[in-house]
Amino acid sequence: MTRLAAVLGSPIGHSKSPKLHGYWLRKYNIDGHYVPLHVDPENLENMLNILPQIGFQGVNITIPHKESVLKFSDEITQSAKAIGAANTLTFQNGKIKADNTDGYGFIQNIHQMAPDWNFAGNIALVLGAGGAARAVIWSLLQSGVDNIILSNRTQSRAEDLQNLFGSKIIVAEWSNIEKYVDQIDLLVNTTSLGMIGQPDLKFDLQKINQNVLVTDIIYTPLQTQLLKDAKNRGCITVDGLGMLLHQAAPGFEAWFGQRPTIDSDVRTHILS
Ligand code: ATR
Repeated sequence: MTRLAAVLGSPIGHSKSPKLHGYWLRKYNIDGHYVPLHVDPENLENMLNILPQIGFQGVNITIPHKESVLKFSDEITQSAKAIGAANTLTFQNGKIKADNTDGYGFIQNIHQMAPDWNFAGNIALVLGAGGAARAVIWSLLQSGVDNIILSNRTQSRAEDLQNLFGSKIIVAEWSNIEKYVDQIDLLVNTTSLGMIGQPDLKFDLQKINQNVLVTDIIYTPLQTQLLKDAKNRGCITVDGLGMLLHQAAPGFEAWFGQRPTIDSDVRTHILS
């Protein structure tokens, strides 16, 4: 039986997921298809009723449905609950299981690219307080970081995340973030600053220590100005492409029965 999966979103044309899953389907010689489906909010519930009935194993969920999809799900994993959003649904025995693998993807990317790096006991500076930041913060807390200094242009959004995640989160003013730079072990950009078409993140790294790990969840471009500056300062840098690849792996395995390997070939393919 041909296995089917999809990514649901609006807009959906920019999604890299069809290219990624299509690559793995060919690589592992699996009889399956993965398609992008443009779904507007008013059609989401109907779509989730129909897809399992016509043979879909599950779907990825992207903007703007990641939060709203939870109310149509029967089972919600601990990560999806804590993050308040889901990106991976599996259809099983008439039920919808919702998971969030973004935080997992974020951590696995760093494990793979910087295998000697340890999160435990560290102080992280996280920039941004959107949906991506929620997944990153949850996964950093799970991985044992001591404190997270959180800064966002709109401070109230950072304070909302502090209320959600508790006293390990320290909110810092956006205009004053550089003052923390010499105290941190990890710097994560979850804002859209530095992405193609957006202004660069202006961040003075002069006082950053050399053993700090700097990572960006952006992967267009792969080497953001932040990562270039960090590399020039002698920091360890990890680009955001691996987060995309690793977050996709659990869904692919659940729907198509094969855990995909994340290697340089798939990175090259996605960038081509
Ligand atoms: P996502 O779900 O991908 O995290 P989002 O919720 O739109 O997307 O969040 C985007 C993040 O980038 C936010 O932290 C946003 O800051 P605000 O909460 O103040 O909007 C940040 N961001 C986007 N453009 C920015 C800019 N020009 N300067 C500073 N921060 C910016």
